[in-house]
Amino acid sequence: MPLIEARNLPNHVGIIMDGNGRWAQLRGHARVEGHREGSRAVRRIVRASRRLGLRALTLYAFSEQNWARPEDEVDALMALLRDFLLSERSEILDNGIRLNAVGNIGKLPGIVRAVLDPLRDDSSASTEMTLTLALSYGGREEIAAAARELASEVKDGRLRPEDVTEDALRRRMPSLRVGDPDLIIRTGGERRISNFLLYGLAYAELHFSDTLWPDFDAVDLYEAIGSYQRRERRFGLVGKPAMPDDKLALPSAPPAAADKSHLRLVG
Ligand code: FPP
Repeated sequence: MPLIEARNLPNHVGIIMDGNGRWAQLRGHARVEGHREGSRAVRRIVRASRRLGLRALTLYAFSEQNWARPEDEVDALMALLRDFLLSERSEILDNGIRLNAVGNIGKLPGIVRAVLDPLRDDSSASTEMTLTLALSYGGREEIAAAARELASEVKDGRLRPEDVTEDALRRRMPSLRVGDPDLIIRTGGERRISNFLLYGLAYAELHFSDTLWPDFDAVDLYEAIGSYQRRERRFGLVGKPAMPDDKLALPSAPPAAADKSHLRLVG
């Protein structure tokens, strides 16, 4: 069972859920079966994240580019999304989860909007964890939309060109209202970002797992978080001094070994 350090959790975790199609193909099933199993994994990981105490979880559920997939696959994904929102509604509301969606939401079909919009409204005051579904989402598209907003504010005289700062852009990006992602996980073995949270991930830690998304479980999540916790985040600054200074800084007794109260056993 992995040990997770309770006081050093990432605030915002983003997940690129990849590998549904391959999971199905390996079993001789249609791709949609992989997505169905993938939505079971979504339930597991949302629950595990909430139990762990993550503040924000963003799931890349449907990219802007995914609209180009075969129509029956797109329809199946939309139906699974609707089923997920319907079946998890009470779980989300009862556990203090705020459900949010980012991306080109206007493009989603009515069957999804009919369950998504009320759940967003009804959970809007919840504060334990924000679950964001990136739907019809693209990182470049989000940056372009923020730039358009800034351009029109400058054009109307509401903003000066010199106020077009890195922070002004960030404040116009819905995916970053919960803060920049601290940890990005990609399942399914590929090592790329695929247009996910591009602006926010500047200093995110990246964790690539070979596990196909439908098989990804709580222990895989803990492993990813454990790996995050073992890294030193520097944000462009210099790191902690290496030996021998580290050695000099060691206390005479090793209290950390005795005091494990900050560690959380999960599994
Ligand atoms: C990528 O796998 C996955 C997607 C494009 C969709 C993700 C959807 C789900 C996990 C299920 C529905 C979502 C929710 C929120 C209930 P892929 O099809 O590209 O896999 P491959 O790389 O193996 O082909």
